[in-house]
Amino acid sequence: MLLPLLFLFAVPGLTDASFSFQIDNNTQVNTSDCPITYYGQEYTTVYTNFTGEHLFVCFNGYYTPEGNKDCIRVPNTDNKANFVLNNDDVPFYWRYATDMIQARVSTVTNNVTCYLHFYYTSDMILWGMGSQSVVYWHRAPQKFVSVLVNGDVVENVFGVQNNYSISDTSGCRILGLGVKPGTTRQIPDTCTFLTCSSTRIPSTKTCGPPGQCNGNGTFSNSSLDPSTLECVDVSDGQTPPPANTTVTPTQNVIVTKQTTPEPSTQSPTDESTVSTQLIPAGKNFVVALSIEISTILSLEDIKDEFLSQLKAEFVRRGLPPDLGLRILKSQRV
Ligand SMILES: *[C@@H]1O[C@H](CO)[C@@H](O)[C@H](O)[C@H]1NC(C)=O
Ligand SMILES: *[C@@H]1O[C@H](CO)[C@@H](O)[C@H](O)[C@H]1NC(C)=O
Ligand SMILES: *[C@@H]1O[C@H](CO)[C@@H](O)[C@H](O)[C@H]1NC(C)=O
Ligand SMILES: *[C@@H]1O[C@H](CO)[C@@H](O)[C@H](O)[C@H]1NC(C)=O
Ligand SMILES: *[C@@H]1O[C@H](CO)[C@@H](O)[C@H](O)[C@H]1NC(C)=O
Ligand SMILES: *[C@@H]1O[C@H](CO)[C@@H](O)[C@H](O)[C@H]1NC(C)=O
Ligand SMILES: *[C@@H]1O[C@H](CO)[C@@H](O)[C@H](O)[C@H]1NC(C)=O
Ligand SMILES: *[C@@H]1O[C@H](CO)[C@@H](O)[C@H](O)[C@H]1NC(C)=O
Repeated sequence: MLLPLLFLFAVPGLTDASFSFQIDNNTQVNTSDCPITYYGQEYTTVYTNFTGEHLFVCFNGYYTPEGNKDCIRVPNTDNKANFVLNNDDVPFYWRYATDMIQARVSTVTNNVTCYLHFYYTSDMILWGMGSQSVVYWHRAPQKFVSVLVNGDVVENVFGVQNNYSISDTSGCRILGLGVKPGTTRQIPDTCTFLTCSSTRIPSTKTCGPPGQCNGNGTFSNSSLDPSTLECVDVSDGQTPPPANTTVTPTQNVIVTKQTTPEPSTQSPTDESTVSTQLIPAGKNFVVALSIEISTILSLEDIKDEFLSQLKAEFVRRGLPPDLGLRILKSQRV
């Protein structure tokens, strides 16, 4: 049984924000009447491109092969499709659609309020549910829509014989990668695992010795078993690194401070004292540093240069070259 759509203008006299038209190549549509929260970002515009093989429905600009956009890639050799936006005020219909979707997608808890429908010889629908959304795909098996976040395929949603597929498109965005609710994925070639809980709480762990991870979940050291490795929680920038006061030697580290990236305007070797917290866990550790630097330039302008010089200095003083540095918080004084 297929999920029937609300026919446009089926209930006259109600709010008629709904609209419908045929999209050709390169169409920009204002969809603010049906906002879609797609991997943590709320979007109110869609941009369509046909490539001859696919329809790209993108949210943050037109698709280009090299562009890292958030898009749904839909098989389409017709180079055209019909488009409907529907948010008509028909409570019984949205209740019905909500029940159908929640019965199939356990991570969806919100009510459906609207949809964006793209159809020609197949049906692709984005259902809007406030902070959540799902993609619906109706087509024969073997044909699939791809869910892309920053140009990276998070998931391929395959057609099902005599049926339709629905998948959550409102997971977490961690370090720029999309992660479906209730799943974990590994950053290629590293031991870093990105987890999105079923309630969309992001977390990041780094496991195992650096330099020994294959991108496919195996380790180059065959005596290591991924399931027994100690893991360290890594902040994704939203929460501070875990404080562990039981084994915390507090040290003073002298950092060679570069006050601005322009060598002509300041003395480059001003010394400053920073306090550190060491958090040993397994063979990896996370250090939180609180550093005060003064500069007349904005943090955005100097951030990359500052981090790369700080990293170079840490490596020069003996830390492993694959260490990662990130600014967790900054404050204008
Ligand atoms: C998509 O459409 C935009 C706007 O017309 C265009 O600039 C872009 O090149 C198109 N992308 C492809 C892959 O055709
Ligand atoms: C999009 O449409 C809404 C109403 O449907 C309107 O209020 C808004 O100004 C439009 N946005 C743009 C960028 O045109
Ligand atoms: C769509 O437009 C883009 C750029 O304007 C063009 O490169 C592409 O060939 C067009 N696609 C089709 C199917 O006409
Ligand atoms: C979702 O729909 C149900 C039933 O229609 C209603 O009781 C509930 O209040 C709605 N929830 C929200 C957040 O609107
Ligand atoms: C379609 O798929 C759903 C979920 O997998 C299943 O419950 C339902 O019975 C299927 N319907 C048909 C007609 O196969
Ligand atoms: C994982 O990657 C490594 C190195 O690239 C390779 O030797 C190994 O065969 C791969 N294992 C699997 C299961 O793909
Ligand atoms: C592989 O891991 C084992 C257990 O941690 C360790 O004893 C051994 O030295 C490692 N071998 C290499 C080549 O790193
Ligand atoms: C601190 O780290 C030690 C050793 O890794 C661990 O046993 C302990 O539970 C941690 N304490 C807290 C508060 O996380």
